[in-house]
Amino acid sequence: MKAEVLYFSAAGTTKRVAKAVARGLACETNFVDITPFATRNMPFSPTADLLVLAVPVYGLRIPKPVAQFLGQLQGQNTPFAAVCVYGNIRWGAAPAQIARLAQQAKLQLVAMGIMVGQHTFASQKFAIALGRPDETDLKKAEEFGRTISAKLAAGQLSVPAMPKSLLPANMAYLPNTGLRFVVRQPAVNKALCTRCGRCPVNCPTAAIDQRTLQIRETRCLRCGACVAVCNYKARSIGFRFSLAGRVVTRMGAKRKEPLFFI
Ligand SMILES: Cc1cc2nc3c(=O)[nH]c(=O)nc-3n(C[C@H](O)[C@H](O)[C@H](O)COP(=O)(O)O)c2cc1C
Ligand code: SF4
Ligand code: SF4
Repeated sequence: MKAEVLYFSAAGTTKRVAKAVARGLACETNFVDITPFATRNMPFSPTADLLVLAVPVYGLRIPKPVAQFLGQLQGQNTPFAAVCVYGNIRWGAAPAQIARLAQQAKLQLVAMGIMVGQHTFASQKFAIALGRPDETDLKKAEEFGRTISAKLAAGQLSVPAMPKSLLPANMAYLPNTGLRFVVRQPAVNKALCTRCGRCPVNCPTAAIDQRTLQIRETRCLRCGACVAVCNYKARSIGFRFSLAGRVVTRMGAKRKEPLFFI
């Protein structure tokens, strides 16, 4: 079996989950990082025996650029497994949204995983899922991969029964701009910046001006990719108000465990 493993991972946790699932699949794997604007906008059509998508949860849904990417995919009843990674708060409508987009793209959904990853806005002060996925999570992700391989080897292509989302998939169509009032823009600290050029290239929405390094506010997802790629700590992301941080930290205080539907 050959698998194509696509992942969108601004801050790196979703990528770790994708790699663990792939280890479990134990087959020839081609990884495609659809985080940068440039790769995501190259033509892609699934050619392997299995397509896997690993995606973070943003605002109770999948990131808009991933939804747009899935919306233009054309499968041929290609077996498809997805894994959503959320920051221990809520996964919301993300799995339902993926299931619907998969159906529209003629992808045959065979497995869905819901895993926890360190929250992008976590810090020592706001410890939200710090260190997740941990070793236990990654072992479960590998096991998920093994089970998918076994299911396909047995010729089973049934759609998994998923938990009823508390939110309808339709909510994913609603605008999701509220976050920018709660999370500040990762503006550049000119005293630390060496102008290495990594952040504009790695921004998923091309929101950073190559020359001035300023962020175009309406394009910024608050995804944290520019923070993660900067080797000079010239960008940082976090809550605008301590109160918001405390509320979210409380919501994510109780450890949640991964869920798998096969
Ligand atoms: C813009 C944004 C919105 C988020 N919204 C949610 C959310 O609704 N629920 C949740 O549990 N986690 C949320 N998170 C946390 C991410 O889902 C989580 O940290 C994930 O591991 C990030 O993946 P990455 O490290 O691959 O970028 C959000 C993170 C970002 C950046
Ligand atoms: S500028 Fe905004 S969208 Fe671009 S990488 Fe930074 S946080 Fe993400
Ligand atoms: S990655 Fe950091 S150092 Fe490089 S241009 Fe961006 S902010 Fe400056």
